[in-house]
Amino acid sequence: MTGGSAAGVSYFVTGTDTGVGKTLVSAGLLHTLARQHRRVVGMKAVAAGGLMMVDGVFVNDDVLALRAASTCRVPAELDNPVLLREPVSPHLAARYEGVDIDIAHIVRCHKLLLTLADAVVVEGAGGFLVPLSSTTTGADLAQALNLPVLLVVGLRLGCLNHALLTAEAIAARGLKLAGWVANHIDPLMLAQAENIAFLQQRLAAPLLGVVPHQSAPDARSVNLTLP
Ligand SMILES: Nc1ncnc2c1ncn2[C@@H]1O[C@H](COP(=O)(O)OP(=O)(O)OP(=O)(O)O)[C@@H](O)[C@H]1O
Ligand SMILES: [Mg+2]
Repeated sequence: MTGGSAAGVSYFVTGTDTGVGKTLVSAGLLHTLARQHRRVVGMKAVAAGGLMMVDGVFVNDDVLALRAASTCRVPAELDNPVLLREPVSPHLAARYEGVDIDIAHIVRCHKLLLTLADAVVVEGAGGFLVPLSSTTTGADLAQALNLPVLLVVGLRLGCLNHALLTAEAIAARGLKLAGWVANHIDPLMLAQAENIAFLQQRLAAPLLGVVPHQSAPDARSVNLTLP
């Protein structure tokens, strides 16, 4: 695993669900890593959905957010090797386009990125077991990349179950949960501190940061303490 070795630093960022703050935290992680490493780059391995830019280029907004937090620019084929049109589960978006999501190809792109940058942050799609095809999931991708995993817990009712399930799935794949981040996505959630305290006791990995709810989320304000 390349948490922090001579081969470079790399993390796989997953979340308790889609829309829990993986991109915000991944961008925050890039800013954090950029304090120690000159060249940091984000990778959105599989993206589903996007927008057409004025120059006619179709791009995913997570990719744009990760690029904004990266300190080096790489070809789009590397920082977003799979870009699907429809904003649905990747296995469906891929089926609609008649393409296969090739995990081995993504691993090759990641290896190349590690030659172009000192630190690479890979943001997963959706939750950890998001389907990539009728037989593969995001967990297969994480396993093939063999990276330490950072879990973003979107604090809302139900997140304890989702966090424990995800931690079990990560361990079942033989991967290391490097740490987790508590993200206050729901300002009205009850018992926020108690939920964080529970996960601090139950997850076998350090709490790397607590992200407050922000009216205008800013990745630079995400404070993470890396293991
Ligand atoms: N701490 C926060 N305070 C306020 N809004 C937040 C916070 N974290 C995330 N959000 C908002 O929630 C939405 C989802 O966040 P984000 O895009 O980072 O999630 P994600 O897990 O990357 O989603 P996806 O599965 O689509 O990649 C965004 O609009 C983001 O700005
Ligand atoms: Mg995202």
